[in-house]
Amino acid sequence: MADRGWRSLSPAGDPLLAIETSCDDTCAALVTPGGEILSNVISSQARFHERYGGVVPEIASRHHLELVNAVVDEALQAGGVGLRDVGLVAATSRPGLIGALLVGLSTAKGLAAAARLPFAAVDHLHGHVAANFLEPDPLDPPFLCLIASGGHTLLASVERRDGYELLGSTRDDAAGEALDKGARMIGLGYPGGAAIDRLARRGDAGAFDFPLGMRRGDSLDFSFSGLKTALVYKVRELGPERTLERRADLAAAYERAVVESLMVKLGQAVERTAHRRLAIGGGVAANTLLRSRVAEECDARGLELKIPPPSLCTDNAAMIASAARYVPQVPYPDFLAFDAFARSAA
Ligand code: KG4
Ligand code: ZN
Repeated sequence: MADRGWRSLSPAGDPLLAIETSCDDTCAALVTPGGEILSNVISSQARFHERYGGVVPEIASRHHLELVNAVVDEALQAGGVGLRDVGLVAATSRPGLIGALLVGLSTAKGLAAAARLPFAAVDHLHGHVAANFLEPDPLDPPFLCLIASGGHTLLASVERRDGYELLGSTRDDAAGEALDKGARMIGLGYPGGAAIDRLARRGDAGAFDFPLGMRRGDSLDFSFSGLKTALVYKVRELGPERTLERRADLAAAYERAVVESLMVKLGQAVERTAHRRLAIGGGVAANTLLRSRVAEECDARGLELKIPPPSLCTDNAAMIASAARYVPQVPYPDFLAFDAFARSAA
């Protein structure tokens, strides 16, 4: 067994190298065990998926395969570190597009095996939560966390750094997905969340009355499919020319419905838990209206609010490295059998 070349797990001070490829961003980052980001490289594939109006899984996997080595090299170089100086390799293993996940996971396992380093498999959503633990402004648990992205929408009670309790999640589309699909219906490009945000600033949110999913009832789950259908009918009723004319109003009213759906459940979650601190993350956390509504609510209820910088809110590998600090580190060669999974662990 001597040739296994075991290194001690997580040597103090040695940085963690993490890879994230769960969707359409190829990401690698170096983070110190203390949570300081040494490098955080993100290569977006959005332009390759734009013409299809959404992420095409097979195209995403192929691009990850082409980009991942260069992205890892860049992360190491930017951090001024060689693979031999790394203490732990980590990768997102779930949830996500299975082919895309496999590229990052296999690359990370290969690097860890070659350098005889321990490996950690990270849940992507734990990563979004763990973005809050990074320096220079870490937020310590307990806190309430809202993650709203193109792939997920969830409310979590974060009591510890190694996990979270799921309070609610979406029953159909994610908030960002609803924005992206809405944007497409009114003729904006993909991904459409940021385009809706820009256009909505010029529109009248009161011009149309869109439904808020799951507004009533005790569940902290979200739903955006009714809202999406309401927009389909409205666009059909208006016809192409008037839809174009009223685009800013449609964007503003639709955006408000998405944001208020999030706010309703956020308010209920605050009332039901004892949390005095709130963190929001995921790509939708970049939304102007959501940010101001959340800030308003926090002011009104006397809550402390943390929103990580945009580069840590959207998919990135620094958040995966951050989470990896709190999950089991598996020595070589035990991690070689690790698999990727499209779904979250039950
Ligand atoms: O976290 P993220 O980069 O990737 C996923 O895990 O999905 O989130 C991407 C999502 C997309 O749906 C995008 O339209 C949305 O975040 N998004 C926004 C804004 N910027 C990005 N949604 C609303 N307003 C924005 N400014
Ligand atoms: Zn994400």
